[in-house]
Amino acid sequence: MKTAVVTGAGSGIGQAIALKLAEEGNHLAILDFNTEAGEQTAEMIRKAGGTAEVIQCDVSSTDSVEAAFEQLERVDILVNNAGIAAVGNVEVCGPEELDKVYGVNVKGVYHCCHFAVPKMLQQGGGAILNLASIASKIGILDRFAYSMSKGAAYSMTMSVARDYVDKGIRCNCICPARVLTPFVEGFLEKNYSEEERPQVKQTLSEYQPIGRMGTPDEVAELAAFLCSDKASFITGSAYDIDGGVTLLR
Ligand SMILES: NC(=O)c1ccc[n+]([C@@H]2O[C@H](COP(=O)([O-])OP(=O)(O)OC[C@H]3O[C@@H](n4cnc5c(N)ncnc54)[C@H](O)[C@@H]3O)[C@@H](O)[C@H]2O)c1
Repeated sequence: MKTAVVTGAGSGIGQAIALKLAEEGNHLAILDFNTEAGEQTAEMIRKAGGTAEVIQCDVSSTDSVEAAFEQLERVDILVNNAGIAAVGNVEVCGPEELDKVYGVNVKGVYHCCHFAVPKMLQQGGGAILNLASIASKIGILDRFAYSMSKGAAYSMTMSVARDYVDKGIRCNCICPARVLTPFVEGFLEKNYSEEERPQVKQTLSEYQPIGRMGTPDEVAELAAFLCSDKASFITGSAYDIDGGVTLLR
């Protein structure tokens, strides 16, 4: 049985990916700093007949990620999903916020690849999938720090894919537009009043030419495919899943 590590699988897209990978027969290792949320996902997997373990891990901390990977016997699939949002242009974005976003969204991906790749090489291969964003490719209004981090997720994908293309490790990323998850609900709650939220939600939906936000399950389908042996000829690719945003740009 393959072991799939999914970071940030306690919520949203990560949870949907973990459920899908478990459904496809993988043992799930859920790495989240919110273990309560991680346990909820693990329970859903066990109830559906799968197996899962939860390891508390802050992906921004080298020690924490090293300790988490030491507990894992094998790593066949790594999904670097844990991420945080940040709103604001370059004037609004302070150095502390930039460091925080860098710590989770950039160093988090680096840390997990750094500790997963040696295990994959020892086992003879593996598949890595990074959660990038349309912000990796196009200018998104008021998302300076977030765009910086997702640009890095994209280029780290290409770098890892290139370095291990002949060593059995595939590395790809997916670039979603807005997906309706607690990440988005939290953004609405933090930044808008209860009265303002329905209008903002409508605007967020209409941003996608298809007329709505994506769902975590839609992202999970693509993610699970790219992590599976069905995608054995695919590496160094960035897949848009964006309801037509980049199509019409
Ligand atoms: N939701 C969207 O519209 C959207 C669009 C494009 C890309 N993405 C990316 O997809 C990924 C998942 O987004 P989501 O909307 O499901 O987020 P979410 O906020 O719903 O879930 C994020 C999960 O990551 C965990 N997490 C956060 N920081 C962590 C850390 N330092 N260490 C370990 N775990 C941590 C949280 O506990 C949570 O379980 C992110 O990388 C995000 O940037 C989301």
